[in-house]
Order: sequence, then structure tokens, then C-alpha cells
Amino acid sequence: MVQATLFLLVLSLALGAHGHSARKCTNLTGEWKNDLGSNMSITVDEKGIFTGWYKTSVKASPNPIKKSPLWGCQHLKDYYTFGFSVNWTFSDSTTVFTGQCFVDENGTEVLKTMWLLRSYVKNITSDWEAT
Ligand SMILES: *[C@@H]1O[C@H](CO)[C@@H](O)[C@H](O)[C@H]1NC(C)=O
Ligand SMILES: *[C@@H]1O[C@H](CO)[C@@H](O)[C@H](O)[C@H]1NC(C)=O
Ligand SMILES: *[C@@H]1O[C@H](CO)[C@@H](O)[C@H](O)[C@H]1NC(C)=O
Ligand SMILES: *[C@@H]1O[C@H](CO)[C@@H](O)[C@H](O)[C@H]1NC(C)=O
Ligand SMILES: *[C@@H]1O[C@H](CO)[C@@H](O)[C@H](O)[C@H]1NC(C)=O
Repeated sequence: MVQATLFLLVLSLALGAHGHSARKCTNLTGEWKNDLGSNMSITVDEKGIFTGWYKTSVKASPNPIKKSPLWGCQHLKDYYTFGFSVNWTFSDSTTVFTGQCFVDENGTEVLKTMWLLRSYVKNITSDWEAT
């Protein structure tokens, strides 16, 4: 399961970005990067609709990495949790992320996320190894 191992690295995703709003973690709009060199650019509109793209630095597919679009939503009142899906444009896989923003000890906004990667398999017998 080389694929699972490669993507597991993204699990330690601690994305850091510059703050847009005075109150941190209330508007995640901006450029984010993780410690593995993946980049994400998002806009969260006034309704909490989450759009942008993700450019991963790790992959399991042999195809060249391309920016891949993402869509999701974020709670905007009190708790600010979010979730989004990435439609990988260089493979037939889909990833979903869910997470929350925190302010770390240095005042940096950090996104703590978990994700699931779904790969395409040919039939239901192989379903167990797809996610
Ligand atoms: C976040 O900031 C962006 C850019 O300044 C703005 O367009 C957007 O409406 C803001 N979203 C929220 C939820 O305040
Ligand atoms: C992410 O952005 C940084 C700085 O702009 C760049 O050096 C890096 O190559 C980018 N990563 C990917 C996977 O494109
Ligand atoms: C999702 O990615 C595929 C390529 O893998 C592309 O053909 C399709 O248009 C994308 N869907 C959206 C909604 O961007
Ligand atoms: C906070 O900053 C200090 C000093 O630059 C650094 O050693 C530490 O790793 C930083 N903490 C985090 C969580 O990035
Ligand atoms: C299901 O697909 C796998 C490859 O993904 C193949 O090895 C297996 O023979 C297939 N099984 C059936 C019942 O078609």
C-alpha cells in the first residue's frame, strides 16, 4: 500500500498562512502551505462557501502533478470547522479533508486536518483497498 503511505504524510498537514482578518481563524481566505511543500489557495465567501485549488507535493500516481480544484464549506459562527473535496485533475482519485483552524503559540494560524483518499478500483471485490 505505497499509495496510502505517500498520502499519509499529508496527514501531518499543519498549514500556515498570513492572517486576513484581525480576529484570527475567522476567515481562512489566502495562501496556505504545509510542511511537505504542498500549497493551497482558498477563498471563503461571506456564506462560508469554500473554493480554491490544491497543489500537492506528494502523489501516488505516475502522472505529473497539477493544480486541482477544491470545494467545500466552513461554519462561520462560533466554531469555524470546515470540510472540502479535492478533484485531483491528474488522477482518478478524490480526497476529502475536514479540519479546524488554530492559533499556535507564535500567533500563527494553523489548519489541523484529516483526510481520506478514494482511489478508483475496477469492481466491488476490491472496494476494501480503495479508501
Ligand atoms: C474573507 O476575506 C475575503 C477577502 O478579503 C472576502 O472576499 C470574503 O468575503 C471574506 N469571507 C468572510 C467569511 O468574511
Ligand atoms: C508551493 O509554493 C512554494 C512557494 O511559492 C514553491 O516553492 C513550491 O514549489 C510550491 N509547491 C508545489 C507543490 O508546487
Ligand atoms: C475533475 O477532474 C477531472 C479530471 O480528472 C476533470 O475532467 C473534471 O472536469 C473535474 N471536475 C470539475 C468539476 O472540475
Ligand atoms: C515558535 O517560534 C519558535 C521560535 O522561532 C520556534 O522555535 C517554535 O518551533 C515555533 N513554534 C511553532 C509551533 O511553530
Ligand atoms: C476485480 O478487479 C481486480 C483488479 O482491480 C482483479 O484483480 C479481480 O480479478 C477482479 N475481480 C472480479 C471478480 O472481476
